[in-house]
Amino acid sequence: MINCLRGWPEPIVRVQHLSDSGIRVIPDRYVKQPSERPGLISDSIQSEINIPVIDMGDLLSPDPTLRDKTADLIGSACREWGFFQVVNHGVSHELMARMREAWREFFQQPLEEKQKYANSPSTYEGYGSRLGVEKGAALDWSDYFFLHYLPVEIRNQEKWPTLPVACRELVGEYSKEVVKLGGKLMKIFSSNLGLTENYLQESFGGEEMGACLRVNYYPKCPQPDLTLGLSPHSDPGGMTLLFPDENVSGLQVRRGDNWITVNPIPNAFIVNIGDQLQVLSNANYKSVEHRVLVNSAKERVSLAFFYNPGGDMLIKPAEQLVGEEAPPLYPAMTFNEYRLFIRTRGPCGKAQVESLKSPT
Ligand code: OGA
Ligand code: NI
Repeated sequence: MINCLRGWPEPIVRVQHLSDSGIRVIPDRYVKQPSERPGLISDSIQSEINIPVIDMGDLLSPDPTLRDKTADLIGSACREWGFFQVVNHGVSHELMARMREAWREFFQQPLEEKQKYANSPSTYEGYGSRLGVEKGAALDWSDYFFLHYLPVEIRNQEKWPTLPVACRELVGEYSKEVVKLGGKLMKIFSSNLGLTENYLQESFGGEEMGACLRVNYYPKCPQPDLTLGLSPHSDPGGMTLLFPDENVSGLQVRRGDNWITVNPIPNAFIVNIGDQLQVLSNANYKSVEHRVLVNSAKERVSLAFFYNPGGDMLIKPAEQLVGEEAPPLYPAMTFNEYRLFIRTRGPCGKAQVESLKSPT
């Protein structure tokens, strides 16, 4: 398994440069099967429905009723949606804006500059244009930059961009703040599940937790109805804190047979539950499928921060959530073992976490 992750099975094409070349017809590799194209599953009732919005400022209210109500809202969002937006989250808006601007600038550089960071599937760190190593696989209309922030031992700033000059420092500052926000949410999730406040964080390895950042770049696409920026997938890790592009929507969340387009609120984070929290919560919390649409008018930049267990942590349903009425739904597995799947096969809806379910 590890061997097949050494190199890409075929030459890498940078989607941004394909887009900039002015093509009017996209290569077959990016054309999805008719059933997977955007717009086919009914997009009805779209505009009235949005994922829940949580004001985290209310968690600090002197009014205990408001505090409890807010924690309950987070709990029901985790159970019913697997997705919510947070405002008043404590991360500096100015820092968020500077961070996004730095990454826009990174992608605006000439191809040769970015190629210095070209990644390989062994760690995925660096500048990449595909997920999965299957030769001939369908591809998504996006490029990305992926880097590790935690644990500190695997942080390698040499692999982070030197240009724009503020980039490395900004990644450090931003990640520190977002980890803090993630830690607050982990406590709320633990309490909401009836676990001790530190249960989930300890299960992730405490300070030895993992954290990585993927900056997604979705170039303009001449035939947006035929392709996707990112195919349906659930996030394999713990939780994702996404800073979406406020000017261009594109993220869609599965709700039954519908895809709901998320309307991003300025300066908010979109939080979603990943597969590891679904496992730890014994499916009380859901890691929900999502995908990204592209458009012909404007490129889109999003920053996905993955708050994960340490790679060697054995993740399994919390004992307090397991009993005669609720048998454990998943076997124990380390996060490193688990994430080899998406790294090899690419985005596959919820196939992995579903396939682990013990037969009942
Ligand atoms: C991801 C992801 C959504 C987006 O990076 O896993 O789902 O809007 N990104 O870019
Ligand atoms: Ni995702």
